[in-house]
Amino acid sequence: MFSHAPVMINESLDSLMLNKSGAYLDCTFGLGGHSKEILKRLDSRGSLSAIDQDQAVLKYANKIQDPRFKFQYSKFSKIGELFLNKKFDGIFFDLGVSSLQLDDASRGFSFQRNGKLDMRMDQTNKISALDWINKAKEQEIADIFYYLGEERKSRLFAKRLVERRKNKLIESTEELAAIAFAGKKYANSKKHPATNIFRAIRIFINNELEEIKKALIASIDLLQDKGRLVVISFHSMEDRIVKNFLKGKIENKEIENSLKIIGKIIKPSQEEIIINARSRSAILRVGEKLNG
Ligand SMILES: C[S@@+](CC[C@H](N)C(=O)[O-])C[C@H]1O[C@@H](n2cnc3c(N)ncnc32)[C@H](O)[C@@H]1O
Repeated sequence: MFSHAPVMINESLDSLMLNKSGAYLDCTFGLGGHSKEILKRLDSRGSLSAIDQDQAVLKYANKIQDPRFKFQYSKFSKIGELFLNKKFDGIFFDLGVSSLQLDDASRGFSFQRNGKLDMRMDQTNKISALDWINKAKEQEIADIFYYLGEERKSRLFAKRLVERRKNKLIESTEELAAIAFAGKKYANSKKHPATNIFRAIRIFINNELEEIKKALIASIDLLQDKGRLVVISFHSMEDRIVKNFLKGKIENKEIENSLKIIGKIIKPSQEEIIINARSRSAILRVGEKLNG
């Protein structure tokens, strides 16, 4: 069994839950940390729907035996169709990967645990990281490293990758990490040189940025007037999408502004960062649906 320390649990749920008897949607169930706390805070009339695209979370969702709770296995870009005609008092996103994915070497997400490369959050997706990095063109790989990983050495790393795979398929997380590592000393205290390329491949394989945009747009119709949208993001690209969306923009295009920004961004406390290092890059933003 894996465990995942839920990030900014009080900060996020204090912003999300203004009505104890309300209906809520957790779009990123993971190991259920936030969902379980939402259920604790709800009274008997409240309800919680939760989704996740990772089948591995099913056994954790099935453990919650509570008539107010319903889990569905789905991508969050589909919430519009999944919850047609339903209205929520709050919709919550805790973006990124869970410990269930990162800590399990067989899911192939992490350079800290050697395993067969994979990185699919939804194991039914056709293309894994292993398939892609062994087939994609050098230029495409360099672009993904640059645009999705913000990696300054994108071209060099793409070139090395293509050279190495000529002799042998790149199959493990260790072999991929070595592309960025080559010849360098790496102190554990520093950011690992493969961090950006792992993140870039993960975002690409899971189509993460498109998923977020679609889900944010769909969430508007699913919110009651004055319903809350609460999003925790973990890197600048995710956060930029959320920030712009709250200002009424998607990809620099103005959309109808249906949300009011609530408060300033919230970051984890120093105490939380010490206990849970994974929280350190988290940014919480809150919007409220304007009266329609
Ligand atoms: C950071 S974890 C959530 C952790 C959770 N809040 C907890 O406390 O246990 C993010 C989860 O969102 C899921 N996820 C990411 N993108 C998704 C998408 N497009 N559709 C559905 N679930 C997604 C991942 O599979 C992962 O389980």
